Amino acid sequence: MKQLHKQSSTNHRRDEEMPSGQSPPYSPKSLKHPRSLPRSLSYLLKEQRLLFILVGILIGSTFFILQPSLSLLNPSSSPSARPHPLVSSVDHESERTSGSWSTSLATTPGVKQSHLNKGTGRVPVGLGRRRMRVVVTGGAGFVGSHLVDKLLDRGDEVIVIDNFFTGRRDNVKHHFGNTRFELIRHDVVEPILLEVDQIYHLACPASPVHYKYNPVKTIISFSSFSCYPDSTNVMGTLNMLGLAKRIGARFLLTSTSEVYGDPLEHPQKETYWGHVNPIGKQREVIFSGVRSCYDEGKRTAETLTMDYHRGADVEVRIARIFNTYGPRMCLDDGRVVSNFVAQAIRKQPLTVYGDGKQTRSFQFVSDLVDGLVALMESEHVGPFNLGNPGEFTMLELAQVVKETIDSSATIAFKPNTADDPHKRKPDISKAKELLNWEPKISLREGLPKMVSDFRNRILNEDEGKGNK
Ligand SMILES: NC(=O)c1ccc[n+]([C@@H]2O[C@H](COP(=O)([O-])OP(=O)(O)OC[C@H]3O[C@@H](n4cnc5c(N)ncnc54)[C@H](O)[C@@H]3O)[C@@H](O)[C@H]2O)c1
Repeated sequence: MKQLHKQSSTNHRRDEEMPSGQSPPYSPKSLKHPRSLPRSLSYLLKEQRLLFILVGILIGSTFFILQPSLSLLNPSSSPSARPHPLVSSVDHESERTSGSWSTSLATTPGVKQSHLNKGTGRVPVGLGRRRMRVVVTGGAGFVGSHLVDKLLDRGDEVIVIDNFFTGRRDNVKHHFGNTRFELIRHDVVEPILLEVDQIYHLACPASPVHYKYNPVKTIISFSSFSCYPDSTNVMGTLNMLGLAKRIGARFLLTSTSEVYGDPLEHPQKETYWGHVNPIGKQREVIFSGVRSCYDEGKRTAETLTMDYHRGADVEVRIARIFNTYGPRMCLDDGRVVSNFVAQAIRKQPLTVYGDGKQTRSFQFVSDLVDGLVALMESEHVGPFNLGNPGEFTMLELAQVVKETIDSSATIAFKPNTADDPHKRKPDISKAKELLNWEPKISLREGLPKMVSDFRNRILNEDEGKGNK
């Protein structure tokens, strides 16, 4: 040990004694000397090291370039890539969970946008929209089934509630097997508990033949049909408003131009309070044609809707729908367009009630559905008239039907029904201004679309394949 110590101290002294100007044999600093550059280059070039480095860089950059497209092909591989709202194949159960979480947020202005961005980081603001869970009561009916088509098309989950009083499974059977679609047989006069963001309330017999069949159920149910037609309007609407209140969902009521009764104002604005005869003729038998069960039922439904809005803070929307036609209407429901079309196809005379000079306006169903969705998504309560302002007398309508289906069709006149409105034409300036909505399809364009559907169904009926 002593020897070692001695040796190191000797070396130390030697260093100190080294004459200045003589360079040491090796120092790490000498690597920075320019003369050593060719040595590093030759190090890189030896044994193909440079080639390996370049191949590594190439592989790395290829991965980073392709990674976004790969994660789109396989969403589960990337935790950040949650399903886009418009992608239809989804994990149903996980969406159920997020549906209940989002219910209250959806109804809060201002929160919606931030919610929208959450979990969809790759979608620029304003381009994506969160998927909704939506209930459509009466969704197996004429208007309801077209609304369901639109909601499913845009990526929502849709639950249809229907008692099939006037609706048909066939109207929605093309969605069977779609994991975002559910159909529940249920009468809205009975309560139901569901977890959704929006409720479109359409369940109600809408044609005179049907709503006059059981007027008490019409008024109570907006209506259910056991024995009181108004019951669907009152109890059905009450139940759906109760549901909306409980779960914080937005509620849309499909009211009607019938709330204007036989109007004294023309065209009808939303500010007009209407002219409905609640009594009918004193001696009239209940099933013979009093229409006030429908008119007053809807008026009561509007009142209930506004009371829930004011008193319970429920977010509500009210649409007043004017005559609408299109594929999937009931064949023999007593509404004038379906009557004329079915009669012309069956080579029967077209029935005109009264002198045929009473007017109506006719809206194609896709226009109405666009209006309903625009209203539901807007920040306006309403009421809004949704209808086509084009006005036709019954005789003019019969003429268009003849031109479209059978020019040789004849007309049979019958006495008019009680309280049939003389004029009906919507003023839609409010919907134009606030919803940016107006109908696009004229009667002459829309009618042929309906005729082909009616022809097929009448043919099937004739062949004994009616699907009711
Ligand atoms: N089509 C029009 O021209 C028109 C005009 C004004 C208002 N509206 C309103 O639009 C809505 C839809 O009308 P539509 O023309 O599609 O009628 P529709 O008869 O074809 O559809 C109504 C649907 O509601 C269902 N329903 C009725 N009572 C029910 C109950 N108690 N429980 C559950 N389901 C029930 C029926 O089975 C049917 O599927 C109705 O509320 C109607 O009053 C329609």
